[in-house]
Amino acid sequence: MTSPTTMGKLTFDAVSPGVGLKAALAQPAAAVLDRIAASGLRGRGGAGFPTSVKWSMAAEADEADKYVVCNADEGEPGTFKDRVILSEFADLVFEGMTIAARVIAARKGIVYLRAEYSYLRRHLESALASRREEGLLGKRIGGKEGFDFDIEIHMGSGSYVCGEETALIESLEGHRGEPRNRPPFPIDTGYLGHPTIVNNVETFAWVVCILEKGAEWFKSHGTVKSTGHKLFSVSGDCSRPGVYEFPMGITVAELLEEVGGQGAKAVQVGGASGQCVPASQSDRTIAYEDVPTGGSIIIFGPKRDMLEVARNFLEFFVDESCGQCTPCREGVPKLLEGVQMLQQGACSMAYLKELCSLGETMRLASKCGLGQSAPNAFVSIARDFQDEILGRTGFGRRNGSDG
Ligand SMILES: Cc1cc2nc3c(=O)[nH]c(=O)nc-3n(C[C@H](O)[C@H](O)[C@H](O)COP(=O)(O)O)c2cc1C
Ligand code: SF4
Repeated sequence: MTSPTTMGKLTFDAVSPGVGLKAALAQPAAAVLDRIAASGLRGRGGAGFPTSVKWSMAAEADEADKYVVCNADEGEPGTFKDRVILSEFADLVFEGMTIAARVIAARKGIVYLRAEYSYLRRHLESALASRREEGLLGKRIGGKEGFDFDIEIHMGSGSYVCGEETALIESLEGHRGEPRNRPPFPIDTGYLGHPTIVNNVETFAWVVCILEKGAEWFKSHGTVKSTGHKLFSVSGDCSRPGVYEFPMGITVAELLEEVGGQGAKAVQVGGASGQCVPASQSDRTIAYEDVPTGGSIIIFGPKRDMLEVARNFLEFFVDESCGQCTPCREGVPKLLEGVQMLQQGACSMAYLKELCSLGETMRLASKCGLGQSAPNAFVSIARDFQDEILGRTGFGRRNGSDG
């Protein structure tokens, strides 16, 4: 498998492995945490949880065994930026994990690697071996007495839900990858019942940049609530697909211009679980406070059939739902059935409204993020492309707006 194209220089290109860790070892763990907090860094896996808050809660846990887990499952449709980071900047990821270990006082790290990325394993093992030889992993890291930490790689199970952090931990423990009830959260009851932080590949890489370049540098980009730069995996109907680095807060229109996607009908921001932003809202910003994303951007050109787009995403969720809880197990197939009825012209406006309200119930009542976000694309398409849907089915003409 070849790596996707990286468009332009990334900040990671200019970061020298070792410098961030040296800076982290030269100060108390609490000061490192303060710097991460000052940067405003939020998790790059999608949910945008403040990294320093997660780390400080794990640091406070009074236990000898703690774990640092890197979520390299990258299962969100349209996301491939972690693949690029692991291929080209593995050292930054391992270094970020080592800095996290210093902050929370962990002795073991695990990379949960997407099953389809098994071809990267040899490359990652060799980067780990080099770090051990250089004294950057293992006993007395950087000559620091008592700082022992090592990292192992665990292959994923090929299921989308295993990227959800509690399902990931279940899978690491050798169980079926099904989400756990929360609370308790992994920061106090995680891997093997011990405090565990789970962070995205990209989050760890940015930690190293923050240690090297400073919190102020990081914060000087992006918005007040979504600081820094982010990597985006861009695919679909544009002339320059690939992996890009943009500041958080970029508008959909600006992004489309950068990637040669002008004239698009809609942009799916955040993969199958994200929102579909119509061209009429291209001034929306890609940021946690507006349209969030773990990095997946899928562009739909003027000829795309939006109902078909919704069907495609729902089929994905029907396949990937673990079936543990009723709102998701029963709700996703119901939404798919509704879309198929709409496609056949056999669904009224009243039923479309009911489907949207079912989506709301799923958001509120599903056990994990999969079921909570599965209706997102359908609901945004049903709301913003109603004319296209009505034009196709003829319900607007035949039955009036309330069908
Ligand atoms: C169904 C589902 C799949 C997920 N897949 C991933 C994934 O592949 N990679 C990832 O980093 N986070 C994924 N997440 C989010 C994780 O649960 C978790 O929030 C994240 O790893 C935390 O890291 P961060 O704070 O650095 O973003 C997924 C969540 C859900 C609900
Ligand atoms: S929401 Fe879906 S994937 Fe998550 S636990 Fe329930 S059935 Fe499983």
